[in-house]
Amino acid sequence: MRHRVTGVLPRTIDWDPGGHVVLVDQTALPALRTTAVADVDALVDAIRRLVVRGAPALGVAGALGVALAARTLDGPALDAACDRLAAARPTAVNLAVGVARARAALPGGPDAVLAAALALRDEDIAACHAIGDRGADLLTALCGERPLRLHTHCNAGALACVEWGTALGVVRSLHARGRVAHVVADETRPLLQGSRITAVELAAIGVAHHVVVDGAGASVIARGLVDAVVVGADRIAADGDVANKIGTYPLALAAARAGIPFVVAAPESTVDPATPDGAHIEIEERAADEVCDGPAWNPAFDVTPHDLVTAIVTERRVWRP
Ligand code: MRU
Repeated sequence: MRHRVTGVLPRTIDWDPGGHVVLVDQTALPALRTTAVADVDALVDAIRRLVVRGAPALGVAGALGVALAARTLDGPALDAACDRLAAARPTAVNLAVGVARARAALPGGPDAVLAAALALRDEDIAACHAIGDRGADLLTALCGERPLRLHTHCNAGALACVEWGTALGVVRSLHARGRVAHVVADETRPLLQGSRITAVELAAIGVAHHVVVDGAGASVIARGLVDAVVVGADRIAADGDVANKIGTYPLALAAARAGIPFVVAAPESTVDPATPDGAHIEIEERAADEVCDGPAWNPAFDVTPHDLVTAIVTERRVWRP
């Protein structure tokens, strides 16, 4: 199904009672197309190609993938399918967490697995709203009551979660209070999650925004054009180091130099106590041909050290690492 994005977006990912997973195809945005996925290998392929992307959405994809697998597979074939799902992308810890959550329900049979996956979906929705409200409170406390000029990177919006979003959830909550003046959205090379996805979300809710190329991000901050940076995360290490889309770290450096807050908005499921610090986070290296025809390094994420992070806002707390 294909049409242009206007107004309310459908859920990024959901379960269809007919027995498949429905995804908004994020490779097609800004055109809106949904796609149905009926088996694990098609879902693994969709995850690798970024048809579904963003850490919280990947967590739900992992869990629903186990639900798909549990309907048709058992024994070693089911175990292998779960392993393939968990390993489809390495950096966002939510994917492996989502797979593990649903996998723990396998002894109860396919219906129990689906119930566990749907519970994760619903928890993600609730977490995003809580993060949005807490992040809005925090930014108001840090920056004052005036409408804010915010800067974000990649897409940590409704389309990176089930709905609402983390960093853009904060923007949505502030917008609902009449407290957003403007958002700068980095284009996000090489796959343009900022210009193709974040800009679509901001336009859909009527938030004034401009896209800038990634190379302009730090200087926009240095020129005093934003009051705070708010981004999502793919994995947060135990010490508060934050892995997020490549190009996040320069914004943190620029924010520190400019003396403005650098806020990370993410669910607790993105915090990985088993990873002691950022140096232990596996950074996904993607194909060179996403960048150019010649040789290229294509790391999908970078790590912002915790001393550059003003605060991490989750559904439960404001953590100042
Ligand atoms: O490669 P992507 O598009 O999956 O990367 C997404 C990001 O880096 C997001 O900022 C992060 O997953 C947080 S989404 C709420």
